[in-house]
Amino acid sequence: LSGALPVFVHPAYDPSWDLAYGMTPASVAEALAQHPETRAVLMVSPTYHGVCGEVGQIAALAHQHGIPLIVDEAHGAHFNFHSELPASALASGADLVVQSTHKLLAALTQSSMLHLQGSRVDAVRIAQLLQMLQSSSPSSLLLASLDAARHQMATQGQTLMERTLQLTHQARAQIQQTGLPILERPENPFEGFADLDPTRIVVDLSTFGLNGFTADVALTESGVTAELPTLRQLAFIVSLGTTPQDIETLVRELTHLVRGCKASAVQSVAKSLSLSPGTPPEIPSLSPREAFFAPHISVAIEQSVGLISAETACPYPPGIPLILPGEQITQAAISQLQRIKAQGGPIVGCADPDLKEILVVRSP
Ligand SMILES: Cc1ncc(COP(=O)(O)O)c(C=O)c1O
Repeated sequence: LSGALPVFVHPAYDPSWDLAYGMTPASVAEALAQHPETRAVLMVSPTYHGVCGEVGQIAALAHQHGIPLIVDEAHGAHFNFHSELPASALASGADLVVQSTHKLLAALTQSSMLHLQGSRVDAVRIAQLLQMLQSSSPSSLLLASLDAARHQMATQGQTLMERTLQLTHQARAQIQQTGLPILERPENPFEGFADLDPTRIVVDLSTFGLNGFTADVALTESGVTAELPTLRQLAFIVSLGTTPQDIETLVRELTHLVRGCKASAVQSVAKSLSLSPGTPPEIPSLSPREAFFAPHISVAIEQSVGLISAETACPYPPGIPLILPGEQITQAAISQLQRIKAQGGPIVGCADPDLKEILVVRSP
């Protein structure tokens, strides 16, 4: 929206789990060296699968360049309340941190917090920009729910997270007995995977020949709601609202799901050396703003390769766009979108959710 031109830094990718982790400090350093005009670094930590990147190291790199680090910590609002959880982005030196208080704490859906520390980001400017983007009639219900969630964690956070972690450990131990591989914190953390939120339980169904989307439908019918289905995995969240009965149901239904399915070899998280090497940073052909507002036309998806997208195409979940406005459309992105769609994954952001057509920037 701002007109900024993003420099995309590819995150570490683990082919053994088909999961993207964090951007490595080395790739951020390379991007900053190649683009000294950069005004801020933005990273996601933890990922939707609970993997935390090297926030402290990346903050130090940004600060060496005199620019702020902004962290999307949507999934980490609980981190500050127990020593067994990863360090929070603020504690690691980030300047601006956004948390979805409604995701992991008890605020109502839609409520989130933007935390600011230090003087690299101008608080007055942020307040002005928020006034431009937000309603001038804020919801008292949402604000009160944020304050209640804050009060609950300030007064009972440690106790609640202690109980949550106990349930998590129990669930992990019991799920392990089903033979389903569970994403674990590596014994020797490597670049892009500094830590893991243990309350995020990610199981790989592909070893049993199952697909995350169809498994999700079956589990939903039996009363278990996964947070995030993907092609190969299901991610579950154990939160301060989870009960021992919930864990019992989860373990029982997962056991039921894999019973009778033959397991292939169990894989473990790749060691750092087997992670695919980082792809150099990339810049879209046009800024997302320019592409979004440019004159555009709708073309058949098969004929869009090489053209500049005027819209977003994003499998949701997990909500990570494969095509953004301004990017040149690749065959790889289209094939991956079609694969996800064929297996039951919804695609959002684009005018034609059936993906038969896509909006592209009209050539002059
Ligand atoms: C990493 C990440 N950032 C941001 C969001 C959006 O957060 P919200 O729903 O609070 O707007 C999500 C939603 O799932 C997310 O996974």
